[in-house]
Amino acid sequence: MSEKEEAEYLINIENNLVSREKIDIKDKNFEKVMFLYRAALKQLKTKIDILQEEMKLFSEYEPVEYVTMRIKKPENIIEKLNRKNLSLTYQNMFDEIEDIAGLRIVCNFKSDVYKLVDIISGFQDVRILTKKDYMKEPKSSGYRSYHIITEVPVNFSSGIMYVKVELQIRTLAMDFWASLEHKLKYKNQQISATDSKNLVKYAKVIDGIDESMLKISNNIENSNPKLIIEAAEEKVKAKKFNFKL
Ligand code: GTP
Ligand code: MG
Repeated sequence: MSEKEEAEYLINIENNLVSREKIDIKDKNFEKVMFLYRAALKQLKTKIDILQEEMKLFSEYEPVEYVTMRIKKPENIIEKLNRKNLSLTYQNMFDEIEDIAGLRIVCNFKSDVYKLVDIISGFQDVRILTKKDYMKEPKSSGYRSYHIITEVPVNFSSGIMYVKVELQIRTLAMDFWASLEHKLKYKNQQISATDSKNLVKYAKVIDGIDESMLKISNNIENSNPKLIIEAAEEKVKAKKFNFKL
């Protein structure tokens, strides 16, 4: 792409976002908008990767098991706009759908989830739009997780743009439940009342196991103050990053 083409390309993106133009998922404009979300996701993923490396290297603290990312399928974006009774415009897509780009951080213990929420909330350049603590208040399905809707800055040749990314932070145990529950419900929309009740019950059982694992971890920390987890806790708390080696 020539420089001139590239500049026009970005100007077009901006025009599309402010226009009331109808979404056409087969259109080039749709591809351009999706490019924005992919770019934002890459930016946030890089921030999380750097954070992970920093914590490992400087604090020997490794709370994250894995990170996954996904971009919502075009047909699901349309379905969601329809479900929300919104007209199918790029403007509505950009303003009203908060989970087109999604990043999930799966960590070890419940305490890690809150630590990560704190750290990410402190990122200077990432805007935090909303926080939902489904660990404190699980959904009626039994679902537990911590959700943050962020706006991530992305530098383009024509300037900076803030793009929404939904961040889900949960433990391995919560992820196990959510993944299976999603698969079971996806396969069978007409899940029976008994199965639904059982899913809620098992979510509670799994939460009990999460609590117990955290207790064991705390016991180990307390009996061995030199252990990495405690050392990390102190260092992670520090507000200013200290480059002393
Ligand atoms: P959506 O319209 O689905 O985006 O819901 P929302 O905008 O009210 O946001 P919410 O925070 O409730 O849920 C967003 C995302 O969390 C979903 O897209 C799922 O990934 C996940 N989620 C929410 N509830 C459940 C649940 O009961 N089971 C599972 N497996 N995942 C859930
Ligand atoms: Mg959502």
